Amino acid sequence: MSNRQDADSSGHRAGPWWWIRHLKSTDSTQDQIFRMTKALIQPPGGTVVVADKQTKGRGREGRSWLSPVGGLYCSVLLRDEDLLARAGQDRARADRLAATLPLVAGLAVADVVESFGAKAEIKWPNDVMILERKLAGILCERKTDAKGETFTAVGIGMNLVKSPLETAAYLEEIVPALQRPITRDNILRRFLDSFAARLDRSDTAAEVDKRLYGRGRTARHEEKKVVIRGVSPQGALLVNTEQGVTEIISGEIIID
Ligand code: BTN
Repeated sequence: MSNRQDADSSGHRAGPWWWIRHLKSTDSTQDQIFRMTKALIQPPGGTVVVADKQTKGRGREGRSWLSPVGGLYCSVLLRDEDLLARAGQDRARADRLAATLPLVAGLAVADVVESFGAKAEIKWPNDVMILERKLAGILCERKTDAKGETFTAVGIGMNLVKSPLETAAYLEEIVPALQRPITRDNILRRFLDSFAARLDRSDTAAEVDKRLYGRGRTARHEEKKVVIRGVSPQGALLVNTEQGVTEIISGEIIID
């Protein structure tokens, strides 16, 4: 990523798979991917859009994602055929991989943190926490392209330097002084290397379970009080309720 590109450039390869397009500014890297997939010439699977800043960064549940210069804001395009290839053409495995993409991306962010000798936790299913605060959020959106083929845009927002939000953590807080300053492109490279490797692994649920944030704590899910227990082999969140142990497969978990 040494040759910086502007919005009109065609991008460049990074590693065996990723095709990176670097924008100085965009509304949302997710929306940029969606626009690209509406064109006649389709972007390949493995296309990554990274922007210095976003003017309309989106989070989950219709929230906005504050995106000033200094953070990492990127979206990765994964086509269903890529997931099928990665799953050895086994459709059931590819479907499981598609369903666990937020967890896989979260683990890749945790790997970045761990590469600096620090510890990250995953707040199921989409957030990465350090120091009890949110370092990164992940937004996975599935759509169809101009040819009717399904793909997922995996959006990652990571705070690298002090965020204007007091409730957010930032990577520089846990990077040893000797390794500073950290660069956005170096973090992106580490993330992509790890993400590619983790897409080929079958231990995603167990790996998330090891790093699960909030185990044993009470939380709310759809107005119900639950106690967080762990992650099932399929990647669902296991919680205790008044009815016993239940699996949660989607929705927000609000930890008390
Ligand atoms: C969340 O925690 O609610 C998810 C936040 C996801 C933010 C990233 S930043 C890059 C990509 N583009 C967006 O507009 N959103 C995601």
